[in-house]
Amino acid sequence: MRIAAPLAMAACLVATSPALAAPKAEDAIRYRQSVYTVIGWNFGTLADMAKDKQPFDAGEFTLRADRIADLAPQLLEGFPPGSDTGAKTGAKATIWTDRAGFEAKMQDFVDAARALSQAAHGGDEATMKERFKATAGTCKACHDQYRSRN
Ligand code: HEC
Repeated sequence: MRIAAPLAMAACLVATSPALAAPKAEDAIRYRQSVYTVIGWNFGTLADMAKDKQPFDAGEFTLRADRIADLAPQLLEGFPPGSDTGAKTGAKATIWTDRAGFEAKMQDFVDAARALSQAAHGGDEATMKERFKATAGTCKACHDQYRSRN
């Protein structure tokens, strides 16, 4: 039993976890575009507040910064090998040929999003706006290099 139980659990995980199966390219493309869409939706509100197009609201800012910080680390799994084609995509093929460069840009974004969320919880408006700009810079840095559609 001491050996069988973990084995049975492992078999169960293999059968039910989609993360362990190779995803279909079209599913991966839909997944990452969806995550970017949700990030963009939340980022838009932050942008409006940072540019004074919308009154600054620390609670609203924090809610959206937290969502982005949670979503950012979920993006990389949306770029499995072979998902450079298979559905309409704005992902450049260099994402897969220059993987280290792409992953570094992704890490910059994950780090910036975490710092943005931390600043939001700190409660200082000027720092939040600064962190917003820094995060926006990491979106642009990746898009400039690895995204073909703007
Ligand atoms: C590490 C690279 C990288 C970072 C960082 C990044 N993006 Fe993107 N983004 C991409 C790529 C690549 C695509 C194209 C995905 C596709 O079409 O398969 C994309 C697509 C998008 C899309 C379009 C999704 C769709 O439905 O086609 C939006 C919106 C978007 N990004 C917003 C953002 C915002 C906002 C940020 C920062 C807060 C950000 N991205 C950060 C690489 C990145």
